[in-house]
Amino acid sequence: MVWEMLGLYMMLPPVAQCSPEDLSEITNITYRCMALNLSGIPAEIPPSTQNLDLSFNPLESLTSNYFSAVPALRFLDLTRCHIQTIEDYAFEDLHNLLTLILTANPLWHLSPKAFYSLTSLQKLVAVEANVSSLADLPIGHLHTLQELNVANNNVDSLKLPKYFSNLTFLRFLSLQSNKISSISTGDLDVLPGEKGLNLTLVLSINDIKYIQPGSFEGIHLHELALRSCFENTSVMKACIQGLAGLQVNRLVLGEFRNIRRVEDFSNGLLDGLCQVQLQEFVFICFERFYNGTDTLFDCLVNTSTIRLVDVYLNQVSAVPAASRIFQLECKTCKFSEVPALKLSSFKELRVLRITKSKYLTGFRQGFVHLPNLEVLDLSENQLSFIQCCSYHLDGTPKLKHLNLSFNSEISLSKSWGVNELVSLDLQHSKLGGPGGAPVFLPLGKLIYLDISYTNTHVESQCPFCGLESLQVLKMAGNSFKDNDPGDSFGKLTQLLSLDVSSCKLIQVSLSTFSSLGKLQKLNISHNKLLTFDHLAYKPLQALTVLDFSSNQLTVLTEKALESLPSSLLHLDLSWNLFDCSCNHLSFLKWAQEHRELLRSAELTVCNSPEHLNNASVLNFDLSSCQLSAILVATYVGTALTGALFLFLIYKYYFNLYYWLVLLSGCRRYADRDDTYDAFVIHSSKDIEWVRKELVETLEGGAPPFRLCLHYRDFTPGVPVASNIVHEGFLSSRKVIAVISDHFLESKWCSFELEIAQSWQFVEGRSGIILIVLEEVDKALLRRKLGLSRYLKRNTYLEWKEREISRHLFWRQLRTALLDGKTEPGRGGN
Ligand SMILES: *[C@@H]1O[C@H](CO)[C@@H](O)[C@H](O)[C@H]1NC(C)=O
Ligand SMILES: *[C@@H]1O[C@H](CO)[C@@H](O)[C@H](O)[C@H]1NC(C)=O
Ligand SMILES: *[C@@H]1O[C@H](CO)[C@@H](O)[C@H](O)[C@H]1NC(C)=O
Ligand SMILES: *[C@@H]1O[C@H](CO)[C@@H](O)[C@H](O)[C@H]1NC(C)=O
Ligand SMILES: *[C@@H]1O[C@H](CO)[C@@H](O)[C@H](O)[C@H]1NC(C)=O
Ligand SMILES: *[C@@H]1O[C@H](CO)[C@@H](O)[C@H](O)[C@H]1NC(C)=O
Ligand SMILES: *[C@@H]1O[C@H](CO)[C@@H](O)[C@H](O)[C@H]1NC(C)=O
Ligand SMILES: *[C@@H]1O[C@H](CO)[C@@H](O)[C@H](O)[C@H]1NC(C)=O
Ligand SMILES: *[C@@H]1O[C@H](CO)[C@@H](O)[C@H](O)[C@H]1NC(C)=O
Ligand SMILES: *[C@@H]1O[C@H](CO)[C@@H](O)[C@H](O)[C@H]1NC(C)=O
Ligand SMILES: *[C@@H]1O[C@H](CO)[C@@H](O)[C@H](O)[C@H]1NC(C)=O
Repeated sequence: MVWEMLGLYMMLPPVAQCSPEDLSEITNITYRCMALNLSGIPAEIPPSTQNLDLSFNPLESLTSNYFSAVPALRFLDLTRCHIQTIEDYAFEDLHNLLTLILTANPLWHLSPKAFYSLTSLQKLVAVEANVSSLADLPIGHLHTLQELNVANNNVDSLKLPKYFSNLTFLRFLSLQSNKISSISTGDLDVLPGEKGLNLTLVLSINDIKYIQPGSFEGIHLHELALRSCFENTSVMKACIQGLAGLQVNRLVLGEFRNIRRVEDFSNGLLDGLCQVQLQEFVFICFERFYNGTDTLFDCLVNTSTIRLVDVYLNQVSAVPAASRIFQLECKTCKFSEVPALKLSSFKELRVLRITKSKYLTGFRQGFVHLPNLEVLDLSENQLSFIQCCSYHLDGTPKLKHLNLSFNSEISLSKSWGVNELVSLDLQHSKLGGPGGAPVFLPLGKLIYLDISYTNTHVESQCPFCGLESLQVLKMAGNSFKDNDPGDSFGKLTQLLSLDVSSCKLIQVSLSTFSSLGKLQKLNISHNKLLTFDHLAYKPLQALTVLDFSSNQLTVLTEKALESLPSSLLHLDLSWNLFDCSCNHLSFLKWAQEHRELLRSAELTVCNSPEHLNNASVLNFDLSSCQLSAILVATYVGTALTGALFLFLIYKYYFNLYYWLVLLSGCRRYADRDDTYDAFVIHSSKDIEWVRKELVETLEGGAPPFRLCLHYRDFTPGVPVASNIVHEGFLSSRKVIAVISDHFLESKWCSFELEIAQSWQFVEGRSGIILIVLEEVDKALLRRKLGLSRYLKRNTYLEWKEREISRHLFWRQLRTALLDGKTEPGRGGN
């Protein structure tokens, strides 16, 4: 029993253990020790630790040198650690600490030197930390501080203590959710005037009843947030007047969704803003606009940007003349119609956004003379309209960016009323027009077009005609006639990026990409393509990104792999149906050699054979194909040998034949009948001499000799080799070789001569008469003829052109020929 319990005990994990993150790092930089009932720094934390999360541990109080074991800290989270006291030098040695989080600690005693040593601290978070006065925080020496967050405390005065003049890098001060009820002159005096501090001051969720006029006089802020600060409209109006003299880049007024107090927007509410210099005005979460909003913009005419967010404005009433509003945004407003006519009064408007308004369905008015408008974003509404867009956009000649995405139904026509358009986003709106007619014809300057998921079915010849400058075309989630893009992209010669993912494609025509020589990115994923036809993709020589994932490829052929452009950096082939059998070894090998090119490589999986289903192509064991490689090698070897054999037979057919005949020679010898006196071997180039001299003299002389001559006596239709043997050697008593330079050069003649010589040996016949024509190279002759000219039985004659020698020549020749000539019927020599 005891042992069992002990064993069980030992199997439990140790109680408190901090977990290092980034185990891959050589030094353990981050440790999380959240909620481990720790009462100090655990010993296992290495001194190199930079990020330490000690939140939700009962540390209670921080004594001197509390963190000296971890001097490298840059980030320290002490959220909800029951810390009540922080003694002098508690953070000693933390010279590198950038962020200190003290959220949700019931601090009640901070020693004056509590934060000493934090010479790099940039961010101090003391949210919900029982801070009742900024003066209580001993942080005057934190010269590097940029962010101080004391939200959710009990601070009741905005009076900034003197030490703020030391915090010259302070950029953000939040006093949200405190107890500030009034702001008086002098509270902010310690802030440097002019453009000294670029401070964001958050005072939202304080119950402010009064702002003394002049409190903000001469103050420069980057941002001032006063959301949900006022009890009712009249307090709000008065307080805004108290802001007089403030200079601020962004002023945020309004409420929070769950903290709404001001009843109604009343005329004159924002009148105080006439005394404030501001660039951007944000009005957020304001519900009630029953009464006129005539004065809404009165004091905002010099503001460049106005953002109305979650404001229940359902119409725009009076717009002051000569407004300088440059950018107007309405997000989640209550319009039901695009207030194009009223908004046309903002003559300086460059950017107009009305988005995410779920009641906005109509677009019946057109914009009238907004000569500077460049950006019109009407995305994420419920717009439904026809004949887009010449009527609507006629008054916006400079429009460059139009966003009508995520609306209901829009039908496009061929006239647009704008010809400077550079980007057009229509994604996820149901479109009528594109695909059937060339509706983009007038948009020659368009660079960016998004018609993804617009229910577009491309069937016309020229859906993108006119888009000569287009560089980006996104049309995922649509469809094409016959599930083939065909020549749809024919005119898009400037295209850099094309997305035709999820377009139900089954095939790609050879000409589809032929004009896209500049294309860098092609997304053709999530289709049903079975093959990668190298000819179709060949024109894409500038491609760097190709996403071919989620198709039905079984292999990339060697041609396809070769056709991939060298510029390719990113190739996604995941979720195809690759066949990982040895037939496709070259592809599998290629894939493993190009790991760095393949994205989602682990998802580039085999579909077959069955036992490799879901295995990564990169893990395919190439050596498993070696056995069959040997088999293949054997087959190939056999085939090659066979071919070589046949080739040799073909080349040496004659020799073989000759040797065969020789082997059977003895038998034939018996019944041979010499038909000719001599078989003449000569080069075809010496035929003249043979005819004129040799044949005429010998056959025409007395006694006449019968000569066997290739050109005359060979049986037509019988192979030459066979003729030479049968008609030549076997039917002749002697062989006359007419030796000339031509003869010696001709392999064929030399060969015949060699045969004649071996014939002579085998049959023991006297016999070769060598007639050497005069001009022959003697050295060559000696080499070629070898010993045969000295053999006793052979006759060696030299032909001389001179008349006298000829007589002798012919006599010698006749004698040689007559030698061994016997009565018919008797053989031998
Ligand atoms: C990092 O932590 C791991 C696991 O806790 C430990 O094995 C390793 O020695 C630590 N490395 C350093 C440099 O502290
Ligand atoms: C936390 O640790 C203390 C002692 O340090 C112990 O008395 C207490 O029971 C522990 N609490 C929990 C929840 O483990
Ligand atoms: C807050 O701090 C004060 C002293 O400043 C102290 O008296 C009080 O008990 C603290 N409150 C809590 C909840 O600890
Ligand atoms: C401002 O910083 C200086 C130098 O660190 C220091 O002597 C002085 O006490 C600080 N002022 C306050 C109000 O803390
Ligand atoms: C002021 O601070 C904001 C962020 O707090 C920053 O975006 C802006 O660039 C800063 N302006 C200047 C002039 O430093
Ligand atoms: C607004 O609140 C102030 C301060 O509580 C109050 O004096 C005033 O009567 C209120 N005004 C209205 C119109 O409710
Ligand atoms: C509209 O404003 C007038 C005064 O301008 C006021 O009398 C009336 O009560 C307001 N209507 C609503 C519904 O608040
Ligand atoms: C807007 O600026 C002009 C000139 O800069 C000034 O005359 C006018 O009073 C200002 N209007 C408001 C409402 O601040
Ligand atoms: C158009 O608006 C949608 C939704 O707000 C946004 O996601 C998209 O990026 C915008 N298009 C362009 C080209 O800015
Ligand atoms: C291609 O399109 C799919 C779906 O439309 C998307 O998930 C994927 O990220 C895109 N690929 C690239 C490389 O942008
Ligand atoms: C392969 O993976 C897919 C998706 O992860 C899964 O649905 C399928 O069941 C897996 N098939 C096998 C044979 O493991």
